[in-house]
Amino acid sequence: MKGIILAGGLGTRLLPLTKVTNKHLLPIYDRPMIYYPIQKMVDAGITEIILVVGDKSAGEFIRLLGNGNHLGLNHIYYIFQDGEGGIAQALGLCEYLVKNEKFMVILGDNIFQDDLTSFLRQFNQQKSGARIFLKEVDEPQRFGVPRIEDNEIITILEKPPKPPSNYAVTGIYMYPPDVFEIISQLQPSSRGELEITDVNNAYAQRGELKFNFLKGWWTDAGTFNSYRHAWALVLGDEHIK
Ligand code: DAU
Repeated sequence: MKGIILAGGLGTRLLPLTKVTNKHLLPIYDRPMIYYPIQKMVDAGITEIILVVGDKSAGEFIRLLGNGNHLGLNHIYYIFQDGEGGIAQALGLCEYLVKNEKFMVILGDNIFQDDLTSFLRQFNQQKSGARIFLKEVDEPQRFGVPRIEDNEIITILEKPPKPPSNYAVTGIYMYPPDVFEIISQLQPSSRGELEITDVNNAYAQRGELKFNFLKGWWTDAGTFNSYRHAWALVLGDEHIK
C-alpha cells in the first residue's frame, strides 16, 4: 500500500517562521516536522510514499529527504501543488500514482502517538468506504467535528462555532480509490478550498464512513499554540528524555 503525506499550503498562521521556509520543515525537538508522519507510515509498514509539497521551499524537501532510504522508505514520489487549493485538491493530484489501490493519508502537520498498524488492518478488512480517526480536544471549533448518533458519524462540520461533539477529525485518513471520483465533483468552499470534510461527508451520507478513536496524544502544529503544544508532547514522550 502507498501512503500520502500532504505538505502543501502556505503556513500563513505561523508567519514569520514560514516566511523563508515551509511549515513542515520547521523543527519539533530534534527533527523536522515532516519526519513524524513519515515515521508513522514506516511503523505501519508503508515504505512507498507520495509527498505533496507546496510552492515555498519545495526543493528543500528533496534536499532533506532525498529517496527516503535513511528514514526506512523504499521510495518517495514528489508532487507539486500550485497555491493552496485545499487538502482535497492536494489529494486529487495523487490519483495517477495511486491507481486502483487503497491508501492512507496523513497531513504533514499532524503529530501523534498511536501506532496505525492495527487500524490499517481494520481498513484492509473493510469491504468499502473510508476510515477516519477522532480525538477528544479542548477546542473542537478549530477542527472538523463529527455529529455521532448510535455509534455512526451522521455528518462532519468544518470549524463549527457550535461543535456537535468534543471530537476533532484528525488528519489521518484511509481511502479506497473511489475517493477520486468524489473529489472530481467537489466545489470550492467559502474559503476557496476543496475541503476534505466534504469528501468525508460523501462517505458518511452513504453510510460508508468508519472511524476509530485515537488512544494516545494527538495534535496538529499549524498555529503558534498548537506548534508549542506539539513540542511539549514530543518532549514529554517517554521515548525522548
Ligand atoms: O489537523 C486536522 C484538521 O485539518 C481537520 O480537523 C480539518 O477537518 C481539516 O480541514 C484540517 O484543518 P486545518 O484548517 O487545520 O488544515 P490546514 O489548512 O492547516 O492544512 C493542514 C495540512 O494539509 C497542511 O499542514 C498541509 C496540507 N495542505 C493544506 C492545504 C490547505 C496541503 O497539502 N494543501 C493545501 O492546499
